[in-house]
Amino acid sequence: MDTEPQFFETNATPGIVGQPLSRVDGWAKVTGQAKYSAEYNRLPGLVHAVLKTSDVAKGRVTGIDTSAAQRQPGVVAILTHQNLPKPVKVPDSQVNKGTLNSPMGFFPMMTDEVHYAGQPVAIVVADTLEHAQYAAALLKVTIAAEAPVSSYLDPKAQRYVPKNVKGTAGVTKRGDAQAAVAGAPVQLTATYHHATNHHNPMEPGATTAHWEAPDRLTVYDTTQGVSETQKTLALMLGLATEQVRVVTKYLGGGFGCKAWVWPHVVLAPLTAKAVGRPVKLVLSRQQQYTGMGHREEQEQTLRLGATKEGKLLGIVHEKTSTTSPWDDYAETNSRIINMLYALPAFESTYHLAKASVMTSTSTRAPGDMPGSFALECSMDDLAYQLGLDPIQIRLLNYAEKDPTNGHPWSSKSLKQCYAKGAELFGWSKRNPKNGQTRAGNTLVGWGMATASYPVHNSQGNARVRLYADGHAVVQAGATDLGTGTYTIITQVAADALGLPPENIRFELGDTILPSTQWSGGSTAAGRVSSSVYLAAQDVWEKLIKLAVRDRKSPLYGAKAADVVMEKGRLQLKAKPATGEAFSDIMKRASLGDVEGSAQGRYGSVYKEPSVVADADMNKEEKEAAAGYSMHAFGTHFCEVHVDPELGKVRVTRWVSVMSAGRILNPKTARSQVIGGAIFGMGSALMEQTVRDPHLARYTNADLANYHIPVNADIPDMRVEFVDEHDPHVNAMGVKGIGEISIVGVTAAIANAVFHATGRRLRSLPITPDKVL
Ligand code: MOS
Repeated sequence: MDTEPQFFETNATPGIVGQPLSRVDGWAKVTGQAKYSAEYNRLPGLVHAVLKTSDVAKGRVTGIDTSAAQRQPGVVAILTHQNLPKPVKVPDSQVNKGTLNSPMGFFPMMTDEVHYAGQPVAIVVADTLEHAQYAAALLKVTIAAEAPVSSYLDPKAQRYVPKNVKGTAGVTKRGDAQAAVAGAPVQLTATYHHATNHHNPMEPGATTAHWEAPDRLTVYDTTQGVSETQKTLALMLGLATEQVRVVTKYLGGGFGCKAWVWPHVVLAPLTAKAVGRPVKLVLSRQQQYTGMGHREEQEQTLRLGATKEGKLLGIVHEKTSTTSPWDDYAETNSRIINMLYALPAFESTYHLAKASVMTSTSTRAPGDMPGSFALECSMDDLAYQLGLDPIQIRLLNYAEKDPTNGHPWSSKSLKQCYAKGAELFGWSKRNPKNGQTRAGNTLVGWGMATASYPVHNSQGNARVRLYADGHAVVQAGATDLGTGTYTIITQVAADALGLPPENIRFELGDTILPSTQWSGGSTAAGRVSSSVYLAAQDVWEKLIKLAVRDRKSPLYGAKAADVVMEKGRLQLKAKPATGEAFSDIMKRASLGDVEGSAQGRYGSVYKEPSVVADADMNKEEKEAAAGYSMHAFGTHFCEVHVDPELGKVRVTRWVSVMSAGRILNPKTARSQVIGGAIFGMGSALMEQTVRDPHLARYTNADLANYHIPVNADIPDMRVEFVDEHDPHVNAMGVKGIGEISIVGVTAAIANAVFHATGRRLRSLPITPDKVL
């Protein structure tokens, strides 16, 4: 591309983008044709690996008696720390992971050390899954146990303030928030608690590893980023990047847990190397709870100071949470608290305690989700204390620019979201007093909260191959978490190429395709759509160059800049009748196909590509270079019914209104918002993983005991979007919608429970025992 990327004005000519197209991969999924990472069963000599994990949270393996297991039929090998091939390199930690996209500062089965319950201590390989499982059950592992620390609440836990939390300072200061709060006429202090949550994708972590040659490894993995996994595996196994191929055609949910290279992803190729055969390794549901991270249990104290009129003067925030023995990981709750309202002063401190647990990790809207719980409940408190409506207090503190850096927003339609949400919900009919509304025997409450999620910088490549027969193959090594990437990118390509969507084949999920970053941080839609749109422009530029030099073309002699593409026809901008179909140009030139490629950039790196190269620049510096702060915004409104005798809370009505730039597909976007909000309802009312305080072992690591919402728990949900044109975020004007959908949800529900009952519950989940 030698021209400036243009903002893609599809709204000018109604196209496929913006239409509620059904999933293009739906057919493949419902007929079982869609191949997930654990379904590559035809590999020559494929064997099954089953992890044997430690029941003990801390100690040393003193012996593994393999004799009974070894005698079982079908057993191919039993690997322990004594005979497993070792990785050549392991990352330091999730915080200092460098180029290794793995949260594992500690890698299991290198030595006899055990640092968490559920840690792999042996691997049984057999001809069938059943043989491997049975033999694994017969292994006798002896561990010299030491007393584990179970969480930051354990009296043995040592709390500390880390220097850095995931690249963010352990302490953030903007202005003198302590003094601002201490001198404020209105002061509120509240402590919030958030239980451990697990991601629980339908498809557990699974890795199938196939060494096609000693220097050629193919891995079918459940990853949100094939390129990141490829690079990490190459470094850890001592291979060149191109010697590793990672394939992820379909994912059954990710939610952040599939964003990283976890131990099993590396253990599978190491095992395959040891046995000289392709190996399939699937985590059991229980192993999923200890093998791929979780959202950490945490406590936040928020001290807020405001004027008598309700204007914020300062917030002091403290968070305490548990991390693993090798990591300083905490979700960055402070980000949203710092930026959501016109706040003159802010201070945040993270406290961590290392415990004998697997490290926690990114979980849907990491940081912003629990951060918004504390902030949005406190804003609700402030509204009640001053006799203001919850929307009014938010409008009073509306941030017209980003308070953290003074930059204008690239776009922000939050006021329109509040207005539309209030109207759809019927908010004006709300009784301002709590505990006053009843429906029969139940107490009725209405609550609302604000949502926001940042635009995280990312970039990646795409390739478009347009065939003379009017079909196209579009490629980018992205992943579709199940959220609709296949579909939205097909729509973008259809419009950009002037072809019907059924003539487009979009290929993703393979490192042999143009590399693009992971599907994480709500970046994929904005980045991949832009790269595909720009790659299509590259195709047109090539064809226009051909046409204007071709004596037989009606466009011969025209200036390339005067030619445009309209529904697959190249024509003069000023004289649309003069032109021809692209296929005619290609046929005369004896071209079966024309290929275009481009890099798409999302976030502040879009308009400032020079900062892309500068890896030392942090997000703030890049934003300063771009001149804009970039976030999606939205709001949730809900109604709950609380049974005062049983303590049961039921969500009975829901309205979400989101503004996230251009909505590529209102159907898949709506599904993402519904999915995120339901995830939040789970966190608000039922989800909690409980670790035994003495053994540091999960007591409910399965779907029977870890409660997530089912259809009967969920009301009809209304989701609307506020149209936004954002020319600053990327070539398509798209902001992510994946993660914002959960932000604010737990607060909206807690605020509704407060409105219903008059009781402020600050500990999630809000289970009946807490309501009564
Ligand atoms: Mo998301 S929690 O960045 O996959």
